[in-house]
Amino acid sequence: MHGRAQGHPGRSYLPSSPRLPQLTVQMTDSATLPTVYIETYGCQMNVSDSELMLGKLAASGYQPVDKPDGADVILVNTCAVRDHAEQRVIGRLGELKRHMNPNTVVGVTGCMAQRLGPQLLEQARHVSLVIGPDGYRALPELLAGARHGQRSVVVEFDSEEHYEDFQPRRTAGVKAWIPVQRGCDYRCTYCIVPYTRGPERSRKLDDVVREVRAVVADGISEVVLLGQTVNSYTDGEHDFADLLRAMGRVDGLRRVRFTSPHPNDFSDRVIAAMAEVPNVCGHVHLPMQSGSSRTLKRMLRRYSREEYLDCVRRMREAMPALSFTTDIIVGFPGETEEDFAETLSAVSEVGFDDAYTFKFSLRDGTPATRLPAELTVPDEVAGERLQRLIHLVRDGARQRNMGIIGRHDEVLVEKVSRRGELLQTRTRDFKTVLVPGDESLIGQYLDVQLTGTTGSTFTGAVIQRRRPLPLAG
Ligand code: 5AD
Ligand code: SF4
Repeated sequence: MHGRAQGHPGRSYLPSSPRLPQLTVQMTDSATLPTVYIETYGCQMNVSDSELMLGKLAASGYQPVDKPDGADVILVNTCAVRDHAEQRVIGRLGELKRHMNPNTVVGVTGCMAQRLGPQLLEQARHVSLVIGPDGYRALPELLAGARHGQRSVVVEFDSEEHYEDFQPRRTAGVKAWIPVQRGCDYRCTYCIVPYTRGPERSRKLDDVVREVRAVVADGISEVVLLGQTVNSYTDGEHDFADLLRAMGRVDGLRRVRFTSPHPNDFSDRVIAAMAEVPNVCGHVHLPMQSGSSRTLKRMLRRYSREEYLDCVRRMREAMPALSFTTDIIVGFPGETEEDFAETLSAVSEVGFDDAYTFKFSLRDGTPATRLPAELTVPDEVAGERLQRLIHLVRDGARQRNMGIIGRHDEVLVEKVSRRGELLQTRTRDFKTVLVPGDESLIGQYLDVQLTGTTGSTFTGAVIQRRRPLPLAG
């Protein structure tokens, strides 16, 4: 998916609910539950999948733990989008040996598992399970087998699978990830995702609404709808516009976000729904990938520079204050200095508030491997372009951010900031604001005034606390 490639490396999971999981597997002699640790790499879809796996395993008698040391089961949920992501997992799998006890079962799940399949079992002798994104339903049985020495690989696609009956064990704090679509039917030539996550399929609108109502009843007021090309959502009867409007009818749901859309799937209906549904937030992450029509054509993105800019224009016409972030790849085969200059100028023209920028990474099995070798952009050239792009994005964001100091905003308190003295909060248009306060405010809404910016994040003064959230019905 286009989701933030900043990922959640090394993210670990604490049980989010004090309730004990139901026992449906045999207990160990000491009557303690077998423990499971999941480490997640990559995009939000992976984070959401880990929540589903953890929920399934908790319901099957496993106790989630937040450290790998001595866990009975260690799962590494992986990403295959860039080679770098895979190399980190390979390194991490080696490190995890230190945390294993003689009976620990190690499994690799996610896109890298799907891509490498049995090869992973050969490469890493201490791994006994390799399970692709559509294989998690069988996890409890596979783990039971693995605990008796079986090694298995599950990499079949199941174009119906949504894990509808799984109860996710949520780990995202004040917001909830809601997968609404799995897989991808685009075939962007650089991208491995269609081959690791299979064909696009959407959940039924009613199932999504039911899940969202349940998280709101649990006190969560922000959801992020997830899909590889989330705005192409269709359950046969409803499109993404219908889904957004249905979100607008959920009492107590104050913020709706989604990631990541494809520019070609922003129909007028979807744009109108975004503009008209009050809880849909004024920020969109709209992957551009390149600002050069020539490069976009080679990437098979199915839009030109002009069409991308036109999509931005249509959205701004309907929502003048909409904030944009994006993903950009530099050094795609054949990218000339002229092409890159077009990317820079498109960045300036749109005025992105942030961009996730990547050097092109050639993935085995993608159509880009068939491009002539002489089109390869040397690594130093790509590295230098990446630096120029990062500077341009940063300078543009700083300028825009300086321009809004003094603005009043409603923020949601997400957590205590990394340094521990302030609270990290988020505006509706996805800006990070650090404000004074204590952790009792987590999950609450505040009115703040933006008082300063580092260029990327803000400091804020609290003006007032919003009324407590209404109890959801
Ligand atoms: N090389 C570099 N970046 C890639 N992305 C996807 N595939 C590749 C690749 N082969 C980027 C795209 C996508 C984001 C999630 O990762 O920008 O939107
Ligand atoms: Fe996104 Fe294209 Fe990859 Fe699909 S193939 S996940 S649209 S980048």
